[in-house]
Amino acid sequence: MTSALFSPITLRGLTLANRIAVSSMCQYNAQGGSANDWHLMHLGQFAMGAAGLVMTEATHVSPEGRITPKCLGLYSDDNERALKRVIDFCRQYGVTALGLQLAHAGRKASAHTPLDSGAPLGPEEDPWLTLAPSSLPYGPGWHAPRAMTEVDLAEVKAQFVAATERALRIGFDLLELHAAHGYLLHEFLSPISNRREDAYGGSLENRMRFPLEVFEAVRRVWPEDKPLGVRVSATDYVEGGWTVDDTVVLATELRALGCDFVDVSGGGLDPRQQIPLGPGYQVRFAEQVRREAGIPTWAVGMITRARQAETIVAGGQADVVAIARAMMFDPRWAWRAALELGAETPHSRMYARCHPSSWPAASTMVDSAA
Ligand SMILES: Cc1cc2nc3c(=O)[nH]c(=O)nc-3n(C[C@H](O)[C@H](O)[C@H](O)COP(=O)(O)O)c2cc1C
Repeated sequence: MTSALFSPITLRGLTLANRIAVSSMCQYNAQGGSANDWHLMHLGQFAMGAAGLVMTEATHVSPEGRITPKCLGLYSDDNERALKRVIDFCRQYGVTALGLQLAHAGRKASAHTPLDSGAPLGPEEDPWLTLAPSSLPYGPGWHAPRAMTEVDLAEVKAQFVAATERALRIGFDLLELHAAHGYLLHEFLSPISNRREDAYGGSLENRMRFPLEVFEAVRRVWPEDKPLGVRVSATDYVEGGWTVDDTVVLATELRALGCDFVDVSGGGLDPRQQIPLGPGYQVRFAEQVRREAGIPTWAVGMITRARQAETIVAGGQADVVAIARAMMFDPRWAWRAALELGAETPHSRMYARCHPSSWPAASTMVDSAA
């Protein structure tokens, strides 16, 4: 049997061995924005698995852009050194490509980790001034952000560029800009969070301006042969918010600027959101964007089973599936999927003898009574 999920995909100069990406997952365990031994273990376990690509967690371009004080950053030499150590380690022993997600949390910064409530930092907890397109808090009790001035816009754009230069020195294969989940770039896109009256607010064209400018600036310094994509929320899941049709327009603009893929997620902008959760609940958005904007897409959200993932790729709904929680639960997810779909996958040399095909004939990973 030939598996579409386990067929390679080429984006610019990078060929992924298959269509499975480990989706970005914040770990809230950095110090001063720097990665540590936890990240060696966390990303290392995925790097020796069989996904074609492992994405880092949201990695922030400035201290103020971090969601929490424990988020990863790439704004200092220390951050760069610490992340390079992790990526070198993954490279030495792993078999996957490695991607970085660059982010700025905007008005959702200065918060506790989700495990510690996820609430905004209180007045005694060293909160910081957050930035956003307009001075509108995320929800009741949240920080009122400063509406970004022209100087702020230029500064944040420069921070994205500086972090990209650091990513290049570290040696990442692929870069993704985080414009989803209610963080800064998404805040510019949505009419709910962007009420500006200048060239960066109002019409769809104006609301897209800053995210597109950031993309262009990053594309200029990220090498021609390396893929650059964007994670978007296809919809705010709120009446009057950003829609999937808007996402198609954005994706079309991004494609014209040299964007190689759109990673289609959803929500996160407004606490009033109503998300109809269920298996593959966002796949239809990836499919629409792929069809209407003519750009490769990633599907994400409750993709948990091998045959489900195979159907998404084989049916042309998305080019790549990004998997988060199921990967955390089972970092060998892709090895098992390959077994189920009868596909070949790369292994670390040291683990060559683990593959069930080399076990005694009577041994199997699958219980025949099941
Ligand atoms: C612990 C955790 C951390 C996450 N951190 C990020 C992140 O840093 N960046 C991001 O874009 N999405 C993040 N997400 C969202 C996931 O990448 C993914 O889109 C979401 O969990 C849905 O996929 P799943 O059903 O396979 O888990 C996170 C999800 C989880 C569970």
